[in-house]
Amino acid sequence: MTAKPTVFSELPTDLNRDRLPQHVAVIMDGNGRWAQRRGLPRIMGHRRGVDALKDLLRCCRDWGVGALTAYAFSTENWGRPLEEVDFLMTLFERILRQELREMMAEGVRIRFVGNLQALPPSLQLEIERSMQETANNQGIEFTVATNYGGRQEIMQACRAIAMQIQQGHIQPEDIDEALFEQHLYTRGIADPDLLIRTSGEMRISNFLLWQVAYAEIYVTETFWPDFDRAEFHQALSNYQQRDRRFGKLKAKS
Ligand code: FPP
Repeated sequence: MTAKPTVFSELPTDLNRDRLPQHVAVIMDGNGRWAQRRGLPRIMGHRRGVDALKDLLRCCRDWGVGALTAYAFSTENWGRPLEEVDFLMTLFERILRQELREMMAEGVRIRFVGNLQALPPSLQLEIERSMQETANNQGIEFTVATNYGGRQEIMQACRAIAMQIQQGHIQPEDIDEALFEQHLYTRGIADPDLLIRTSGEMRISNFLLWQVAYAEIYVTETFWPDFDRAEFHQALSNYQQRDRRFGKLKAKS
């Protein structure tokens, strides 16, 4: 008899399937440092970061997490050296072109959130194509935040609502959370239950400011390219020990 390999292809038995987060969001930090520690150019860290993200997406699908959102490029990341920004834009475009067939085969529904009009036109085309082609897939919902900033998202929602008021379509008293959420880039996507940040920084960094209101936050020292299934297992284990009260008192047992 051959021993069962420990590849974590199924949900680890110590995790409770009924208490999995339905939506996990990740701040993939530490690619540059991962590379620099190895004497490699920073872009090598981004390349390895893509592998880590692809495996996390597969892992979410294997273990029954329904939605994954990744912070790929923030509105502040334009301030990086031009060659790193160019590398990232080309990388996003190439990955989309390469992975579309597999995403279709796996039933992944991909969505991009952020100010997409400011991205290079050829990348915008790939983004549009991947969103359209996967729109009716029924598998995991994969959201990529690109040229995304939480404050900017909230501001553009305010602007859109103000215009509707100005045009007489709605009244100020019609504004409630549901209406506001309709104007966010993430409309139709449930809020994350778990936010994971790698590389040890205790910051939200302008990511999903509205949406993470009640998310559980998990920070690991591990750099993003080393974030693997064992790390994700730890994050989920930790999440399952949390007592989520959403501002209320614990239900009496
Ligand atoms: C943060 O590490 C990482 C990024 C800014 C880029 C992350 C992008 C990917 C992994 C590619 C995703 C691709 C697709 C198509 C979804 P850092 O550079 O800030 O690292 P540092 O803090 O060590 O400098």
